[in-house]
Amino acid sequence: MDIDAVVHEKRPRPTLAILTYDDGERIFRGNRENYIDLIRTGQELGVNVYVTTTSDFKISGKNTLGYVYDFNAKRWKKTEVPVPNVVYNRIPFRKFELLPEVQQTLQACLKHGQIRLFNPSFFNKWTLFEWLNKSDVTRKLVPATQKLTTSEDLAELLQKHRALYLKPVRGKAGKGIMKVAKSTSKLRPNDFQLSIQDKTRSIISYYPTISSLWTQIRNLAGNQDYIMQQAIPLATFKNRPFDLRVLVQKNAKGHWSVAGVGARLAGKLSITTHVPRGGSIDNPKKLLSSTFGLQDTKKIIRRTKRTAITIAKQIEKASGQTLGEMSMDLGVDTKGNLWFFEANSKPMKFDEPPIRKRSLENLINYSAFLAGMKKRKRTRARKRIRTRMRTRSPLAAPKRKKASVRLLKPTEGG
Ligand SMILES: Nc1ncnc2c1ncn2[C@@H]1O[C@H](COP(=O)(O)OP(=O)(O)O)[C@@H](O)[C@H]1O
Ligand SMILES: [Mg+2]
Repeated sequence: MDIDAVVHEKRPRPTLAILTYDDGERIFRGNRENYIDLIRTGQELGVNVYVTTTSDFKISGKNTLGYVYDFNAKRWKKTEVPVPNVVYNRIPFRKFELLPEVQQTLQACLKHGQIRLFNPSFFNKWTLFEWLNKSDVTRKLVPATQKLTTSEDLAELLQKHRALYLKPVRGKAGKGIMKVAKSTSKLRPNDFQLSIQDKTRSIISYYPTISSLWTQIRNLAGNQDYIMQQAIPLATFKNRPFDLRVLVQKNAKGHWSVAGVGARLAGKLSITTHVPRGGSIDNPKKLLSSTFGLQDTKKIIRRTKRTAITIAKQIEKASGQTLGEMSMDLGVDTKGNLWFFEANSKPMKFDEPPIRKRSLENLINYSAFLAGMKKRKRTRARKRIRTRMRTRSPLAAPKRKKASVRLLKPTEGG
């Protein structure tokens, strides 16, 4: 045998599959620009990347079906591809991810002896709150939050805080968000005021009693689960509130790192900062320094990065999932304190070019890192997600096991 050839034999390139969904309308769903950028970055960094759909993806053999991109012809081509080392879940909507056949594919990846799946499901705002509430450090970062269940609870929380945000636990992009407060109108000093987020502006209405307010909220919420949350007085720029969007990702060593911090400035008439709702992308340093000055702004940005990593670690630990990235919405209040609003396990593309570039490289490097790692035996946490995925929605909170009560401090156990 030629020893030299054995010694110099190249290790096979790691293979990454981007998993998405075929809804019958298009060959596959999701942001294609994003997929193409990942394929290109993979080529540069030595990772084979293809896109596959939950219906095509069969992992019992050596090969499966996937889409590769032909950069010259600018076309996708469906072809036979090797079963990957790593799967990146980019199924774009919760309704798709919840389908039994989609769950089956995700299960199969989790059970497979060699494949590493990261970001196995969407987050849910209530579950995130519970996860962060488990640690003394992260608990302080979350505004007071409760499930929205009765008008009495709403009235009680409204006694404690001057305003509350009501948010669907499975919402995104500002959809379904409401804000309640005691009236700020001199004409209706005793009323409650409800702001609902319309397309790019909010619409305010007034209610003389908590029960009339409650009726309206229930009408608007329909059968969706909601949380109610203390409203944080956000720092503003030219009278418009803003918040920070942080992209946190694992790097080539599998360690959490901050790919970038962006800022979103609320539209003039909006209760949220989303760009499709009249908000705009801006520079965090510029926005923060108008209130806090340059010195403190630098400190706040450093603190934001440290905090985002602490939060990511806690989410990962409490969820028991393998996570490679998440984006986070963090608020800075008028005093410079940081607050956690939500994290997203399917982050939208960051348009800021340096963040964009780093984010693609991190994803590819992390995939190469995962590909080189042996899959660990099923841990208790893994078993837990699997049971959760099988029996309930993958988004629901893990049920506390009796045994874990022992691990709680007496003050937490209550
Ligand atoms: N508790 C709060 N206090 C102040 N502003 C909030 C609060 N919760 C949400 N917001 C504002 O609303 C936006 C959307 O809330 P978020 O929880 O991120 O929901 P979505 O999933 O719709 O993006 C935030 O980016 C922030 O600007
Ligand atoms: Mg958000």
